[in-house]
Amino acid sequence: MDHFLYRDGVLHAEDVPLAEIARAVGTPFYCYSTATLTRHFRLFDEALDGMEHLVCYAMKAASNQAILRTLAGLGAGMDVVSGGEYMRARAAGVPGERIVFSGVGKTRDEMRLALEGGIRQFNVESEPEMRALSEVAASLGVVAPITVRVNPDVDAKTHAKIATGKSENKFGIPISRASAVYAEAAALPGLEVIGIDVHIGSQLTELEPFRQAYQKVADLTEELRAEGHDIRRLDLGGGLGIPYTRSNEAPPLPTEYGALIRETLGHLGCEIEIEPGRLVAGNAGILVSEVIYVKEGEGRDFLILDAAMNDLIRPAMYDAHHDIVPVVEPAPGVEQTPYDVVGPVCESGDTFARGRMLPPLAEGELVAFRSAGAYGAVMSSEYNTRPLIPEVLVNGREFAVIRARPTFDEMINRDTIPEWL
Ligand code: LLP
Repeated sequence: MDHFLYRDGVLHAEDVPLAEIARAVGTPFYCYSTATLTRHFRLFDEALDGMEHLVCYAMKAASNQAILRTLAGLGAGMDVVSGGEYMRARAAGVPGERIVFSGVGKTRDEMRLALEGGIRQFNVESEPEMRALSEVAASLGVVAPITVRVNPDVDAKTHAKIATGKSENKFGIPISRASAVYAEAAALPGLEVIGIDVHIGSQLTELEPFRQAYQKVADLTEELRAEGHDIRRLDLGGGLGIPYTRSNEAPPLPTEYGALIRETLGHLGCEIEIEPGRLVAGNAGILVSEVIYVKEGEGRDFLILDAAMNDLIRPAMYDAHHDIVPVVEPAPGVEQTPYDVVGPVCESGDTFARGRMLPPLAEGELVAFRSAGAYGAVMSSEYNTRPLIPEVLVNGREFAVIRARPTFDEMINRDTIPEWL
């Protein structure tokens, strides 16, 4: 469920007509709903009710500080994967003890940053990283709380580019080696082993892969405890998928996911951490764009938008489907026609959809890409020297620009020309 609905024939974000925002900020722009962000965060939080837990929002999905502050205000922790994300979370007011540091290649500088600024735990992904963290922590005279990310060799049944839990993926340590790695961790200075971490992939639309992974984590918890490790926190990653089409069969709900966690891991008495990103932000954001031209091609019509692959790369990168809807509600029964929906960037990959059935659209009309809140703005670039597009946050009848569109000068003046030129 989201809060982007037609009202009086116009698509609204909560109580604000999108056309009003378009007039104020120009197109294209991203628009997020506070109510949807709140609702989705709470669904996870409530799904774990009765178990000691912390929902650490995977801020890679959408990391604007206004979004982080909204979620932190509801009690969210943050899952960060870089020094930049760590600093951004801190700048948004998230205390270090609510930040977990994930990622396969944390540098010593990033470790230092987090150890000095305060951190809940590092999710360590390899032995070399573990040794580096031990050195850095010992040199600072502090102790780094760690979990080790295990790779359970489970097929997440999702797009290959976002599956992470098979043995051929670069993530975590093979679960078969866990015992040896934990023994080494316990012996290293500057580290305190507190738990286990697992994350098997993103946009999972079934519970079964989670069940397989979490059962392996349950077994491993007992094994490691028997070997003398005080396993008291389980970080279960993110990955629960969202419906990208209205017609799609709905993926499992956070309540069902929470019940699975209780069933597979509840008996262990561990504190539970989860790291959802997409389900919190995905359907809480849309991308609004204007039709520049409608071009008649051979056997097809092209809808040329002012948004492009640099603004929303998911269709080009993962063949991802995003529902596209006109901002002005089509009259009932209006006949739809197929369009190839494209952006102005100079490559054929800049195609959002082929043969997409839409009501007839004309120059100057607005369309919205649904489910664009996660991995949308954060993955955008200035390719073709197109300025990063603004982000807007709506809250009831209010809206605010939470990232402004840079001017051409701001973009261009980031280059410096060496004096010999
Ligand atoms: N935790 C870890 C360690 C992760 O690597 C990820 C996502 C998450 C949590 C959050 O997963 P989520 O709940 O959002 O599924 N750019 C791709 C998705 C990449 C996901 C990367 N890791 C896309 O646009 O589909």
